[in-house]
Amino acid sequence: MRLLIQPNYNSVSYWTAEYIIKEINKAQQKDKKFVLGLPTGSTPLGTYQYLINAYNDKRVSFKDVITFNMDEYVGIAEDHPESYHFFMRKNFFDHIDIQQENINILNGNAEDLEKECNDYEEKIKSVGGIDLFLGGIGPDGHIAFNEPGSSFTSKTRIKTLTEDTIVANSRFFDNDMTKVPKTALTVGVETILSAKEVIIIANGHSKARALAKVIEGGISQRWTVSALQLHPKGIIVCDEQAVYEITVGTYRYFKQLEKDNLINID
Ligand code: PGA
Repeated sequence: MRLLIQPNYNSVSYWTAEYIIKEINKAQQKDKKFVLGLPTGSTPLGTYQYLINAYNDKRVSFKDVITFNMDEYVGIAEDHPESYHFFMRKNFFDHIDIQQENINILNGNAEDLEKECNDYEEKIKSVGGIDLFLGGIGPDGHIAFNEPGSSFTSKTRIKTLTEDTIVANSRFFDNDMTKVPKTALTVGVETILSAKEVIIIANGHSKARALAKVIEGGISQRWTVSALQLHPKGIIVCDEQAVYEITVGTYRYFKQLEKDNLINID
């Protein structure tokens, strides 16, 4: 597992966007579709903006990119401003040349939610699996909505959100916990680990405790992102604040190891 400690959020976002652009362009040169797993949340906003900028500068096209989002709340309308359908359109899809039929987001209003989840897994398989899964990390170490205790062999399914997550996400629902949906559909830990590459982005102090567990602790479903340690091509890209709780030795080790991949964009 690689760990890139960038000086700030902008550098995290820029580096991640450039990495994704390179991978998409590589696939395009081989005439291959690129399958990209995507998160919502505040962390990826900078990356999405850099990807949009690169599209506007004609450095990348999303015409042959197929996306699968990680998760969606159960029971809120797709045009609700806090639905992940809405989020993705507003912050990314409406600004690039992705084809509508290549966008996949779980339907949290499906009549048969279990079938919806199983069909999602089948759809991922039918396009040859996910090439690169981009994700964030929750303060409790969750990845997508795989809350602490989620099995590493989990697939797409319905999950109950923890109080930690409901509190964290209430900032998007007028700071009112009662307005936050209590369940969500989410890809599983195994769905994410099955991707050929996984990049986890994190910034800010609120992620420091979880990142210390993931980087220095053992593999544990108590901190589901720690499953990344099992992945052959897992990368964490974070800012300085997000590694506030790792030891000085670990910090220096990764800074030295990745010194050629660190950038500084204000
Ligand atoms: P955030 O959420 O990017 O809004 O911090 C990340 C997550 O909960 O996975």
